[in-house]
Amino acid sequence: MQLEDMAEVLAIDALSFPTPMKENLLRYELVENELARYQVLETSLTTESMENVGKKRIVGFSGYWLMGDEVHISTIAVHPEFKGKHLGELLLLNLMFLAYKHPACLVTLEVRQSNITAQQLYAKYDFAVVGQRPRYYKDTGEDAVLMTAEPLNGRYHQFLVAQKNTLLRLYPHFKTEA
Ligand SMILES: CC(C)(COP(=O)(O)OP(=O)(O)OC[C@H]1O[C@@H](n2cnc3c(N)ncnc32)[C@H](O)[C@@H]1OP(=O)(O)O)[C@@H](O)C(=O)NCCC(=O)NCCS
Repeated sequence: MQLEDMAEVLAIDALSFPTPMKENLLRYELVENELARYQVLETSLTTESMENVGKKRIVGFSGYWLMGDEVHISTIAVHPEFKGKHLGELLLLNLMFLAYKHPACLVTLEVRQSNITAQQLYAKYDFAVVGQRPRYYKDTGEDAVLMTAEPLNGRYHQFLVAQKNTLLRLYPHFKTEA
């Protein structure tokens, strides 16, 4: 993710979460937070409501903080018009490969208790529920479910490669970190 991606990313974020991310927070993450890493997913897929058919555009993004040997997912979102096309999965897969590059021992995240879609996505990538953070989300007072993928061993890497090969059949031009 580059600074020039911010407008598109913030628009997707606003469509995806109850409380949109503030512009200055995202700027801080990109420019100042040395622990933060953010990616965008670009596509030349189009929907009817899009202008500039054929032009590449951002359809999703993800971010994480590198904290010692832990990768903590801070955000992940797909534009609502592109949900259900395995693009969230592509973002998560890429993030997991990045975790190996650092290298990290585990990947953690918090997810809203009501967000079953995201929890299913994480479960598909073998994240297990390891705890609960009561009233973690200040906007709605909702609890967070804490989920963890570990250990990031060779076996799990093989699983990721198999997932990648499956997704490459759908998206042959997809470029991952591994
Ligand atoms: C969560 C999110 C990123 C998933 O992205 P997506 O591109 O729609 O999901 P994918 O098509 O990649 O689906 C991958 C897996 O997620 C799960 N999933 C996706 N949509 C689902 C739905 N409507 N119901 C239940 N599970 C679902 C399934 O396990 C699916 O795998 P499968 O198709 O083999 O069953 C997307 O819904 C989103 O942006 N949500 C709003 C933001 C958000 O909640 N982010 C998570 C913050 S913790």
